[in-house]
Amino acid sequence: MQIAERLRKIPPYLFIELRNKINQARAAGIDVISLAIGDPVEPTPEPIIDALCTAAYNQENHRYPTDEEKGMLAFRQAVADWYRDRYAVQLDPETEVLGLIGSKEGCHHFILAVVNPGEVVLMTDPGYPAYRASILMAGGEPYNMAIRAEDNFLPKFEDVSSDVAKKATAMFLNYPNNPTGAVATPEFFAKLVEFARTYDIAVCHDNPYSEIVFDGEKPLSFLATPGAKDVGVELNSLSKPFNMTGWRIGMAMGNPDLIRGIAKVKGNTDSGIFNAIQYAGIAALKKCQDNIPKMLDIYSRRRAQVVETFNGLGWNYTPPKGTFYLWIPTPKGMSSLDFTTLLFEKASVVVAAGAAYGEYGEGYIRIVLTVPDDRLTEALERIKRITNYELRITN
Ligand SMILES: Cc1ncc(COP(=O)(O)O)c(C=O)c1O
Repeated sequence: MQIAERLRKIPPYLFIELRNKINQARAAGIDVISLAIGDPVEPTPEPIIDALCTAAYNQENHRYPTDEEKGMLAFRQAVADWYRDRYAVQLDPETEVLGLIGSKEGCHHFILAVVNPGEVVLMTDPGYPAYRASILMAGGEPYNMAIRAEDNFLPKFEDVSSDVAKKATAMFLNYPNNPTGAVATPEFFAKLVEFARTYDIAVCHDNPYSEIVFDGEKPLSFLATPGAKDVGVELNSLSKPFNMTGWRIGMAMGNPDLIRGIAKVKGNTDSGIFNAIQYAGIAALKKCQDNIPKMLDIYSRRRAQVVETFNGLGWNYTPPKGTFYLWIPTPKGMSSLDFTTLLFEKASVVVAAGAAYGEYGEGYIRIVLTVPDDRLTEALERIKRITNYELRITN
């Protein structure tokens, strides 16, 4: 059968490949521990499950979702209230908020709404792999903006030539950042707004880790920046703050024209989010804020444990301030693929190779903190048993 050319340009989705590798090893009887996939293992809080069950028994909710492509007003209002209370951002739930089937879906539909075939879309390198795939599926041209440790993993807009910037119609960003864990600042977002305004670029700030910050860092929304709503949208998600990755619910907020555009794509593609899930989402936003500090405590503890292990092995590693990922340099002279292979072969531990996130991801691996405590401890004990010789550490 013919498979469209646009799909040929897209590599297999990283985590599907990793999952296959893990399943194959497990089938061969190896006790593999995966520190590769960011998916909270703690359960979804009970009030959310209760709200789903109650709503699922109501026959009214068995039909196509209310306000299909936009999401029900009560959910959009709960999102607006959340953004007002958490990030001091005022949103009109009628025109500036949209329900999504997760922020990943939002990325794809944003690009379809904004980008014409052949147009340039800026994204960071390293970056979340779904951005590139969305751009390519829409016929756009991804353009990588390198993000480096010495710049706190923030792109330098002055490095994008004005030729490229003039051709760009959209940009993806994501802070707190997957994969590096870096966080942005209000000053950086102000520069972003200025750059986007100068070159008429629609910004998609993808913010599903807004609540996962450490060391006194404050949760931040791009939309709190003066002028942000003139140039873009922010995506967010209930997946990470409320342990709801499987529920598939998120939101897009910001510029009303872009919101209308995304809604138009959605209206012609999916029929929105099951009403019962939207009621569960309202319960999350209204009743389950205490899940966030609880999860942050758990991640902080695990984060300290990983840092202590690597520093004990000779690293001099300071963890990033956001997300539940640790972006750890490989031993000197070892590629990210070689290091992941070493961890897999010597410790049966799977981590993501930085190179899978782009050229500038080379030299790093990504470790997740979303693993049960006992499995993380076991993984770290196994890593400690790898010799310095094998790690090519010579002190
Ligand atoms: C940067 C980024 N955006 C989007 C997503 C997907 O989130 P959701 O579950 O809301 O689709 C992820 C998940 O890992 C992510 O890391």
